[in-house]
Amino acid sequence: MTESKLSFIREDLLNLLAYIPTPISENQKQLTRLDANESPYNLPSELKVKLALFYEQEIETNRYPDGSHFKLKNLITEYVNESINIANNRINYSQISVGNGSDELIRSILIATCLNNQGSILVANPTFSMYEILAQSLGIITHTINRNENSFSWALDATNKLIYDSNKNVKVIFMVHPNSPTANCLTATEIEWLKNLPSNILVVIDEAYYEFSQQTLVSELPNHPNWLILRTFSKAFRLAAHRVGYAIAHEDIIKVLEKIRLPYNLPTFSQLASELVLENREIILPAVKELMIEKERVYQELVKNPLLKVWHSDANFIYLRLRKNPSQENHHAIMKQLKQEKIIIRHTGGGLRISIGTITENNYLLEILRKEIIGVRIKM
Ligand SMILES: Cc1ncc(COP(=O)(O)O)c(C=O)c1O
Repeated sequence: MTESKLSFIREDLLNLLAYIPTPISENQKQLTRLDANESPYNLPSELKVKLALFYEQEIETNRYPDGSHFKLKNLITEYVNESINIANNRINYSQISVGNGSDELIRSILIATCLNNQGSILVANPTFSMYEILAQSLGIITHTINRNENSFSWALDATNKLIYDSNKNVKVIFMVHPNSPTANCLTATEIEWLKNLPSNILVVIDEAYYEFSQQTLVSELPNHPNWLILRTFSKAFRLAAHRVGYAIAHEDIIKVLEKIRLPYNLPTFSQLASELVLENREIILPAVKELMIEKERVYQELVKNPLLKVWHSDANFIYLRLRKNPSQENHHAIMKQLKQEKIIIRHTGGGLRISIGTITENNYLLEILRKEIIGVRIKM
């Protein structure tokens, strides 16, 4: 249809560049997929069998899911509280909202804060692209600050200028801890700065990779009622296929997110799967340690290559750029070369992000990078 015939569609959406996930076909499964920061491990078959039994014996497919997420929220509360050692700072059930992936929660946050010209958001690039894409889809303005090119820390002076400029009307700041794609955690200075932000700004701290970094700000929530923490089951818990994320915040913020979400946003099967992984976290989570050891090994191999600038990582992925001529074109060329060898990585934020896979996958990646790509086919 021509654009003129689509006059009933908002004009800004016709030009919106959406997030394009890699399509998954049958032969895609034979690829080495290192592009989405998922866990390389499927659920253990003992848990899959349990899930299959649940499906057969317990799920009434003719009934709507539990729209209160009662059991899941209780289990999440228990899990989150394990990382809080100050008794008074423990969170409770009413401080959790569950979403169809944390993506859904990001959208709810935007609706709750900035829709109808009520405000704009602030991000520091490079960062997770969905904040800006979702904001655009709702007609919300995103202000961006460029991160320091070496450490990827925030330029706090420039950020303050934006925040305290009333014309900009910044209502939400999205921080990622550790950031994607650059894999760095917030610094002590940045955390201190967050603590001093005005309370009329919502601070979203996205801890999608918490299980890998083991760094969380959750115990700070009682001191900062304008903070909200996002987590997901898509990474360390191996449930990307089930789309489950959660928000932790003051119960008044959570009440609003609960009003906005669709009543049955999370299918019964996804609720059961996330309950099961939480109940069996002692089986699922030890693999995180192995992945972090692998990450260190891959990092040590990559830093040996003089053509690459590789950053330290607190997550299950590594960010790198070419030292000389780090152009879009050259990075794209590397990605294409890897694709020919059936390895998929992500070209984002002016560099390459590589998720940590199994030992076999990582060895294959390192071999191909060493042999085929770097220094041979890239024009410097
Ligand atoms: C920082 C960050 N936040 C959120 C998400 C989305 O998570 P979910 O699968 O729960 O929507 C991702 C996914 O890659 C991410 O990197």
